[in-house]
Formats: sequence, C-alpha cells, structure tokens
Amino acid sequence: MIALTDSLQAAPSPSRLTIQTAAIAENCTAIRCLDWDRDRFDIEFELQNGTTYNSFLIRGESIALIDTSHIKFESLYFDVLKGLVDLAEISYLIVNHTEPDHSGLIAQLLKLAPHITVVGSKVAIQFLENQIHCTFKARQVKSGDHLDLGLGHRLEFVLAPNLHWPDTIFTYDSGTAVLYTCDVFGMHYCDDALYDEVPQLLEPDFQYYYDCLMGPNARSVMGALKRMAPLPISIVATGHGPLLQHHKQDWIDRYRSWSEAQAKAAPFVALFYTDDYGYSDRIVRTIAHGISKTGLDVELVDLQETDSHTVRELVSTAAGLVVGMPPQPESSTSLHPILSTILAAANRKQAIGLFETGGGHDEPIYPLRNQFQELGLTAAFAPILIKAAPSEVTDKLCEEAGTDLGQWLNRDRAQQQIKSLDANLDQALGRISTGLYLLTVRTGNVTRAMLASWVIQASFQPLGVAIAVAKDRAIESLLQVGNTFVLNTLEEGNYQRLMKHFLKRFPPGADRFAGVATYDASNGSPILAEALTYLECTVTRRLEASDHWIVYCTAEAGRVANVDGLTAVHHRKVGSHY
Ligand SMILES: Cc1cc2nc3c(=O)[nH]c(=O)nc-3n(C[C@H](O)[C@H](O)[C@H](O)COP(=O)(O)O)c2cc1C
Repeated sequence: MIALTDSLQAAPSPSRLTIQTAAIAENCTAIRCLDWDRDRFDIEFELQNGTTYNSFLIRGESIALIDTSHIKFESLYFDVLKGLVDLAEISYLIVNHTEPDHSGLIAQLLKLAPHITVVGSKVAIQFLENQIHCTFKARQVKSGDHLDLGLGHRLEFVLAPNLHWPDTIFTYDSGTAVLYTCDVFGMHYCDDALYDEVPQLLEPDFQYYYDCLMGPNARSVMGALKRMAPLPISIVATGHGPLLQHHKQDWIDRYRSWSEAQAKAAPFVALFYTDDYGYSDRIVRTIAHGISKTGLDVELVDLQETDSHTVRELVSTAAGLVVGMPPQPESSTSLHPILSTILAAANRKQAIGLFETGGGHDEPIYPLRNQFQELGLTAAFAPILIKAAPSEVTDKLCEEAGTDLGQWLNRDRAQQQIKSLDANLDQALGRISTGLYLLTVRTGNVTRAMLASWVIQASFQPLGVAIAVAKDRAIESLLQVGNTFVLNTLEEGNYQRLMKHFLKRFPPGADRFAGVATYDASNGSPILAEALTYLECTVTRRLEASDHWIVYCTAEAGRVANVDGLTAVHHRKVGSHY
C-alpha cells in the first residue's frame, strides 16, 4: 500500500486549517482538510479534537471526485485539487451526502467545471438543487447501480438512508476494495495520522460521534450494515477523521453491536412506501420527520427493495405503521401481496397511518383503512390523499400527521415520567411563573400559532427574547434560524377566549386562525387584534435542551396596543406542566 503523504500549510488564519494529500490505493488519492481548532459541530455537538473533511480522487479512464469539503477550505482545496488534476478531466463528482461540510464547494467546483456529472441518491440530487441554485448534469443512483471508471475502478453504490441524513449512500470501488462512507464510521478527530493505527486514541471520539449522529437511527444503521456485508473491504474511507484500515472490522462490529442494543430498547415506527411511485418518497420522509420530532425511531422501508420476510418481521416488531399505497398490480383484482403481508403481521396494539401518493393507480386506501380498524389498530391520523405535486402546505400536514402518531405512541411514557417526579421538587419548580403569549408565524402559505408561557427577555444588545418550544410542537419546524414570527402578549382579563381557541386539538394541517381577528406584521406573520402587545422577531440561535429547543431571537419591532393594560400572568401549581 502506498502511504506517502504531503501537507500544505494555509496562510495565517484565525484557526488552523491545513490539507493533507495521500495515496491510499492504486490511482486513489485522499484529500484531507484538517480543521484543527473547530470546537463545535451543530449547536449541540462539542468537539475536543477538531475535525477533518475528507475528499477522494479516483483516476480510471474517467476521473471521479468523491465529496468536496467545507467552504472554509475553498482556496486551499482548489489549490491542491488543481495540483493533482486538471479540473477539465474530472468526469464525475460523487456526492455520498449533501451536508454542507462535504458539499460546501460543489457550487464552486461546478462553476469551474460545469461539464461534471453529479452522482448521488435521488434525495441528494433534490437537496443539491435547492442548495446550489444552478443547473447541473446529474445521475441518480440506487443500491446495486454501477459506474465503471475503467482501469479496474468499478464503482458500486449502496443506499444508506438516514445514516445521519436521508440522502446518504456509500460508494464501493471493487478494484481497490475501498468503501467510501462519508459521515458513516467517521469521527471528529483531527490528526496527521492518515489511518487508525492507535485505536485507543480514537475510541472516545468514535463512540461520541456514533451516539450523537448514528444512534438515533440504529435500525437504519443495521440495514446499511446488511447491505454492505457482502463487500470485501480493504479500507473504510470516511469523511471525517482517520481512514479505517488496521482495525476496520472492529469499528464495523462496534456499529453493529451498538445499533442492535439500541434497536432492541427503542420503540420504532415502520414506514412502508414505494420509492419510485408518485410522490411517495417525499410524503414518507415528511411523515418520518414528524415522527422523529417525538423522539421515536423510524424505519423507512422501500417495498420494492424489501422481501416479504423482512416486511413481516418489521411489522411484527414495530410500535406503529405507516403505509403508502403501492401501485395496483396489473390485471389483478385481489389485494397487493405486500399489503396482505402487512395486514397478516399487524396487531391491535399498533397505531396506523395511511397515505396515497398520487401515482395514478394506487391500491384503494379506504378499504385498507377499514381492514386495519377491524383488526383493532388505532388510526393515528386520517388517510392522507395527495393527488397534485406536494407543496409546503402538504409537507406541513404530513409532518403534523407523523407527530400525532408519535405522540399517541408516547402517551403512556409521558404520563409515567410525570408521575415519577418528586412532589416537593415538582411544586417548587411550579412557583416559577411567567406571562402568557401567543407565537404566530406565516411562512409562504403556511400559518401556525402556539400558546407559550416559557418566554423571557434574554439580552439587551441586541434586544433578544428566548422561548422554550417543545420538540414535537407543530410550530417548531417554522422556528429555524433565520425564520421570522410575531410574539403576541396576552392581556390580563382578555385572554381566556384566545387561550381556549389555540389550545384546541387541531388536526394535521388545520387552519388555526379561523374565527380569530388578525392583521399582518411587516415580517408577514399575523398579529392578533386582541393582543396587548406584539414583537416582530427573527430566530438567531437554537439550543437543544432535552425535550425542548431554546429558541433565541432578536426583536426588531414592537407596539403596545393598550398602554394601561397588564400582561396576563400564568401561575402554576407544578413544574411538570406548563
Ligand atoms: C399555559 C400554557 C403554556 C404553554 N407554554 C408552552 C411553551 O412555552 N412552550 C411549548 O412548547 N408549549 C407550551 N404549551 C403547549 C402548547 O401551547 C401547545 O399548543 C399544545 O400542546 C398543542 O401543540 P401543537 O401546536 O404542536 O399541536 C403551553 C400550554 C399551556 C396550556
């Protein structure tokens, strides 16, 4: 194995950024961007040892680049890449995953070399279209698809959805037996050592990374391990940290045992869909996102890729089921065989949700709904029928349907947690009192509102407010960094009607403002006509706090409607309720 490495030092910079290139196999070069001082990944992920973003160049008769790097490496990366290859000679960019730390330089690369064909999963190509806002040549790949670069470099693709992001694939080069996995098997560990020679140094970061990024999708990890099992592997070329060569099987086995333990302990919802059919893939992903907001695991099952034995096993172990109507088999009057398999393995303790994808010849949804109900399953949401192209409105409906399903499954657990609280502590906490507020948001055609009491002013300069928003709230996904909203203060003596209205249990996608007088703020969100005051706010940071997000926002404008009015105050008896 060739193991020569070169390093290029960056010009003086506020944090240390260096690049290492190394031949890792015949005609394969690793380009490792070393970010020595990075101390945070996302808001919640604290780093002890920096990180690296690894990209790879494979030269066959055609040349392929696998992933790029973080935008902070722009000049260093292109200097090195141009030293290795004439960009005009690169035919393919393989995108194993589109998170910006790996895809941050794709737009620049395509500007310099617009002839390049981007290869990725269907979801990755969709994500990229939204990310880089330019047209590009694309090739969607699925498990088992091949790309022959020549000179023995025959690439095979393995879908690994939900391994941190929904778009993930692995790329396997059968000529060198190198498996390129991007985030998977990675670790945030920055060091000149190219490989995993000293595992003891790496173990804590490897496990922390698994716990933060992969553990929440343990079942999907097991699915990907199963798909990669037949491949003989010489190196696991990850996108973060050292490449795994010396102890590769040990690292893979750790993923397997951690995921098996995690999957055994955690209830999950199985979502059955047909990837290629209608809008099935988009609908299923938004429902899955809604379920994940409640803390439950999800398992996406493409019916075309899964045998009936596996379907039966998943149905019999899942806490909840979501089924997207598959296309009716041609010239058949009986139920689709896979639906019969699902019905046969379902049990009455499960929650069920059904959706129709707009594919044209779906199995009829209502007879199936009736059959599940006859078996005693609880319909967690009304059947979702999507005929036209999904929009932001239908996305929100699907997300909320998923959240309703998850909340139904979690109902006993939530009750037990409250019961197990020490009564004195609960009462002491309950003496923290606050005002009463209504958050209102309009984003495009979607509006949402939420009654909130966990609201405080949080800074003077700039004027800032912090709000604790439960992770499974409908409004939560509209309070991302950069989003705007209105914070309405309710008035003492004049809040009961509004409070009652907004505390109703709204079905997924419902119009929460029907019958409520509003006018528009300059940021576009509704102001309640009966509010005492309003503030126009922009979300600038989010801090994960267990079951809530602490949403910190700046206040740009505001007005008091009644200068003599007082804020409605919320006194509580216990801290285990709002
Ligand atoms: C007095 C009171 C105060 C509340 N304060 C908050 C809050 O600060 N944060 C929060 O996430 N939910 C809070 N809630 C719960 C939400 O208002 C929520 O509307 C309700 O559970 C419906 O959730 P959904 O909008 O996701 O359907 C509060 C509820 C009550 C009754």
